[in-house]
Amino acid sequence: MYTEKVMDHYRNPRNVGTIDDADMIGEAGSLACGDSLKLFIKLDGSKVVDAKFQTFGCGSAVAASSILTEMIIGKTLDEVKMITNKDIAKELDGLPAQKMHCSVMGREALEDALKKYYGEDSEEWEELELLSEAHSHDHA
Ligand code: FES
Repeated sequence: MYTEKVMDHYRNPRNVGTIDDADMIGEAGSLACGDSLKLFIKLDGSKVVDAKFQTFGCGSAVAASSILTEMIIGKTLDEVKMITNKDIAKELDGLPAQKMHCSVMGREALEDALKKYYGEDSEEWEELELLSEAHSHDHA
């Protein structure tokens, strides 16, 4: 039911922990299950140079958060903000339908980090909100 990649990231999660001098921190909780995720991001200019996470979440949340940190390290914020929960699931070679909300939590923590970083009144954040509406989160 779970792909090799999910199992691998669940058993050996990458980038677990915190970053003391993080430039961005995002938090999200899943309404579907009550689990939560905290994401720490370190920047060099607008490029992500490090990312770590802590989650009180299920195995799929651990796997999704782990792969998300790998996906964003080395990317610019402009690239990072385009990442959807479907991209996260795809990178794991798929998640069972009833576990898609675990990847949504990853996307939402990322969004929260971007929102706090840019500020809610910024143009970037408005743009981002439109983007995420267009992507319409897959809560299935
Ligand atoms: Fe809660 Fe997966 S069941 S995050």
